[in-house]
Amino acid sequence: MTRRAAFEHGPHKGMNQLPHKGVLMNELFRGEQLVCCHDRDTGLRAVIAVDDTRLGPAVGGVRMKAYPGELAAITEAQRLAAGMTLKNAAAGLPFGGGKSVILADDALRPQDRAQVLRAFGRFVARLGGSYIPGVDMGTSVADLAVVGTVAPRVACAESDPSPWTALGVHAGIRAAIAHLGGRDLHGVRVAIQGAGHVGAELARLLAVDGAHVIVADVDPARARLVAARIGGEAVAAGRIMGVECDVFAPCAVAKVVDTTTAGSLGCRVLAGAANDQLADRRTATALAEAGVLNVPDFLINSGGVVQIYASMQGWDDDRLRPEVLAIGDRVAAVLDSARHDNVSPLEAAEALAHRRLTESQAIPA
Ligand SMILES: NC(=O)c1ccc[n+]([C@@H]2O[C@H](COP(=O)([O-])OP(=O)(O)OC[C@H]3O[C@@H](n4cnc5c(N)ncnc54)[C@H](O)[C@@H]3O)[C@@H](O)[C@H]2O)c1
Repeated sequence: MTRRAAFEHGPHKGMNQLPHKGVLMNELFRGEQLVCCHDRDTGLRAVIAVDDTRLGPAVGGVRMKAYPGELAAITEAQRLAAGMTLKNAAAGLPFGGGKSVILADDALRPQDRAQVLRAFGRFVARLGGSYIPGVDMGTSVADLAVVGTVAPRVACAESDPSPWTALGVHAGIRAAIAHLGGRDLHGVRVAIQGAGHVGAELARLLAVDGAHVIVADVDPARARLVAARIGGEAVAAGRIMGVECDVFAPCAVAKVVDTTTAGSLGCRVLAGAANDQLADRRTATALAEAGVLNVPDFLINSGGVVQIYASMQGWDDDRLRPEVLAIGDRVAAVLDSARHDNVSPLEAAEALAHRRLTESQAIPA
């Protein structure tokens, strides 16, 4: 069905009767600002979602990928922007939350990429600094440098953030094991889904601690290489979620666990780098019922965004390192407060973020 046909279905129906009314009301108006961008010259179509600027300018990456339709792109931008609000607030950063998506066009020739990115940068510039774009899926530091020739500011450090993200996840895993009464990671079994930039470094850090690391990747050669380097074990990608282990660390894709799979995980702790690990909020409850301690992704995977802040401040690695390791302290505090208040760690982490957001309103301008 063409887009036009979808809207013509039931020609006398008003706006309130559109099939996506629920999505329109709940998703599109949840943040502060939503900008749909179209540049006639380059064909750029993009969405910029500014979710919250109470703590500072909205910082979040630019995702470039194909979407089944505009509404899917708008919904994803809004959802990811809201996630960035929580991540930045929980990390104690003076950033709000935002995200943008560029709808990838198969017809885009590589030589036109820079023009499209500059057109995108002009839309960012119109927002007057309320949104600071960074790297995300489908964009690179080089792409952001192009955006930055037009936009007032871009958020990306010169170096790869992945080692810092891995360091923060490692600190969070240590805190989770300590929360369950473990002394250290010696002999602890950790299954890592994804042997990419973060997964490989996390595997190394865990192995240094004496953990037994099991790793899987859709590219089996990559998993074998990482396992061989650290003296770990590689398994097929389809098996990793059911591996008997203490910690399952998703470091690959989103929406890894849902209410059905929550009960069949082979782990005691779910803690990894991937964004948006749970299919929905009900999954947090299902995990708790299954006896799996869930460390919220936005709490544990903020090492990269802390590095961005550090690079804006001109900090060196020695200054940055303790700030990233503090992720472990925050994980410990959130898990303690969840236990104390008898709520899920997700609710406790959200409460931490919301406290920061509301406290910020009390600060005189
Ligand atoms: N890089 C960072 O600093 C950072 C920061 C925050 C969050 N994250 C999130 O962490 C995750 C990993 O990031 P990365 O930078 O290491 O990405 P990456 O692309 O370097 O690595 C991902 C790896 O996962 C593998 N993979 C993909 N689908 C898989 C599947 N179904 N099963 C097993 N393996 C699969 C890929 O082959 C790849 O090796 C992503 O979800 C990313 O959004 C990364």
